[in-house]
Amino acid sequence: MSHTLHPLKKQRLQRSELAVPASNPVMIDKAASSAADYIFLDLEDAVAPPEKEQARRNCIQALNDIDWAAKGKTVSVRINGLDTHYMYRDVVDVMEQAGDKVHTLLVPKVGVPGDLYMVEAMVNQIEMAKGFQTRVGLEALIETALGMANVEAIAQFGGRLEALHFGVADFAASMRARTTNIGGLNPAYPGDQWHAAIARMVTACRAYGLRPIDGPFGDFSDPEGYKAGARRAAALGCEGKWAIHPSQVALANEVFSPTDAEVTKARRIIEELKAAEAQGKGAASLDGKMIDAASERMAKNVLVIAEAIAAA
Ligand code: GLV
Ligand code: MG
Repeated sequence: MSHTLHPLKKQRLQRSELAVPASNPVMIDKAASSAADYIFLDLEDAVAPPEKEQARRNCIQALNDIDWAAKGKTVSVRINGLDTHYMYRDVVDVMEQAGDKVHTLLVPKVGVPGDLYMVEAMVNQIEMAKGFQTRVGLEALIETALGMANVEAIAQFGGRLEALHFGVADFAASMRARTTNIGGLNPAYPGDQWHAAIARMVTACRAYGLRPIDGPFGDFSDPEGYKAGARRAAALGCEGKWAIHPSQVALANEVFSPTDAEVTKARRIIEELKAAEAQGKGAASLDGKMIDAASERMAKNVLVIAEAIAAA
C-alpha cells in the first residue's frame, strides 16, 4: 500500500437516489415516504425557467417542514449550474433559510475544481453568518466533456466534496454521442458505450475517498434495462444509482444491496482467514478457491454496506 492514503470521506447509504422536481410539492411529499435512501430536490434541469423561483421556495419549505433524517433519508438539493443566474440565489436562499436541514448540495455540470471552490466559499460564509452547527456536504455531477477530462482534479478538490455522480444524459449531449436516449445502450456499440466514462469516474472517486454514484436511466417502463445498467455500475464500484421514477427505487435498492449469500460468503472468508492466520498462514482456501488478505478487503466492503443497510 502506498504511504498516501485517502480513506472514504463520508459513509452514507446511497443505493437509490430519487430525483424530485422541486416545482412539484406532491412529488416531494411522496418522495419523503418512499423507500429511497437519498432524495434530491431538483432546482435544475427538471424545473422550467418560469418555475425556478417557486421551486426554490417549495424546496426550502420541504426542508423545513419534513424531518428527512427521521424518515431515514439523506436530503440533497441540486442547485442550478454556475453558468446561470439562478445559482447564487439557490445557494444563498437554500442555505440561509434551511442550511441546517439540507445534508448536501449537488452541483451540476462541474467542469473544473474552481466550480466547487465557489460553492464551498459561499456555504462557508453562510454557515458562519447563521451560526449553524451543521456542515453541508458537496456532491458534483460529472456530465460534461470538460468535467470528465478534469475528473481526477475535481476528485482531489477536498473540502466538503464527498461524492461524484455520472450524469449520462448531459454527458451524451456534451460528447455529441449519437443518441437521444437517457442512459440506454446504443446497439451500434459493441458493449456499453458508457463503460470507459463510468470506470474513469469511479477510479477518481476511489483514489480520493469519494462515493461514486451512477445517474439516470430514462426508460422507466424498462425495469430489466434499469437493473442491467445498475448491475454494470455496481460491478465497477458504484454505490448507487438515481431513480427518475419512484418505480426505480426498489430496483436500485435490490441491485446495490449485498444478497444474503454474498454476506454469508464475506463472513466465511473472514473466518477462514482468521483460522489460517492462527496457524501462521496468510492464504487459505474456501470452496476450492484461494483466498488471501485481498479477499478479506473485498469481503469487508460487502459487510460495511450490509451493516449500513441493517442500521438504516
Ligand atoms: C443528469 O443530470 C444527467 O444529465 O444525466
Ligand atoms: Mg444533467
